[in-house]
Amino acid sequence: MNSDGIRAAAVVGAGLMGADIAAVLALAGIDVTLIDIDDDQLTLAQARMRTSMATLSENGLVAAEEAAHALERVEGTLDRAAALNSADFVVETVFEDLQLKQEIFAAMDAEAPPEAILTSNTSSLSITALAAATKRPERVVGSHFILPGTVLPLVEVVRGELTSDDTMQETYDLWQRAGKQPVMVQKDIPGFIHNRLQHALSREAISLWASGVASAEEIDAVVVNGFGLRLARVGPLAQRDLGGMVMNVAIAASLYPDLSTLTDAPQAMKDLVDQGAVGLEAGRGFQDWGDADPRETRREVERRLLADLLHRQRT
Ligand SMILES: NC(=O)c1ccc[n+]([C@@H]2O[C@H](COP(=O)([O-])OP(=O)(O)OC[C@H]3O[C@@H](n4cnc5c(N)ncnc54)[C@H](O)[C@@H]3O)[C@@H](O)[C@H]2O)c1
Repeated sequence: MNSDGIRAAAVVGAGLMGADIAAVLALAGIDVTLIDIDDDQLTLAQARMRTSMATLSENGLVAAEEAAHALERVEGTLDRAAALNSADFVVETVFEDLQLKQEIFAAMDAEAPPEAILTSNTSSLSITALAAATKRPERVVGSHFILPGTVLPLVEVVRGELTSDDTMQETYDLWQRAGKQPVMVQKDIPGFIHNRLQHALSREAISLWASGVASAEEIDAVVVNGFGLRLARVGPLAQRDLGGMVMNVAIAASLYPDLSTLTDAPQAMKDLVDQGAVGLEAGRGFQDWGDADPRETRREVERRLLADLLHRQRT
């Protein structure tokens, strides 16, 4: 089947990502059934989808009429078996728990048509391990979205050991058709690409903070006011090309031996946890958040992301 043949999708797990992915599929003209075991989650998901559609249409990313039609294409249900029965494409977005996800994959395999693609939005679990719970490992693939899924363009399409080329391509094509910027990840490695890169940078930042090189605010300012600005336009490898390979080889020899190779959180970070400084909700983590409203703070980050994305599209 090519991705144009995908007309009906099911999303199992109506949490944050389930609602976002259902909205993305519906905007691509696909009928979506959103499935959960908790009716309240289905109600919350409807509200999240309405808010996402409003944000997209208010910012001119989607026509208001298109957003309204998309919402009509999503139906919520607690009856998984009936919903999977006619799905061409099934996305799993339940809690990040291997045993639970394997049970869901076994059920999806039994309940969805034999040719349907089964995909997981897992951020950290092995696609190969999920595929092993099914009799169709060649039709199992990862589709790793980044929150907020309706706004950030990236989807990592992750190959399990037995995923077929057709499954990779159809999944890639589908997300592209849905307006995303998919990337094929050819090896089933922990953290895929996005989270590995993200945490490689965090590890170095945490190590600099723990060794007292600068405050958390100053370390963040180096990224936000320095190479972070460039990263949104030029990836780290293209940037190396701009610098020139000879210089890169020299930097690797002199700097890499000094970079963090931490394999666990440093003691100073564990001390923060012991002191209750567990991040934004607690008002303190690496930084002091005072009495900032966590929801409003996260919304503000989303607003800035959207503004940057809009600016990028316009230019
Ligand atoms: N939140 C993120 O930033 C993010 C980003 C990328 C990937 N992910 C991944 O997406 C997945 C979902 O994350 P989330 O943040 O949306 O979680 P969430 O907690 O918001 O939602 C999970 C949903 O799964 C439902 N659920 C649990 N068991 C179920 C079952 N047996 N059948 C049907 N529904 C069931 C829950 O009721 C809940 O609605 C995880 O694998 C997570 O790692 C999350």
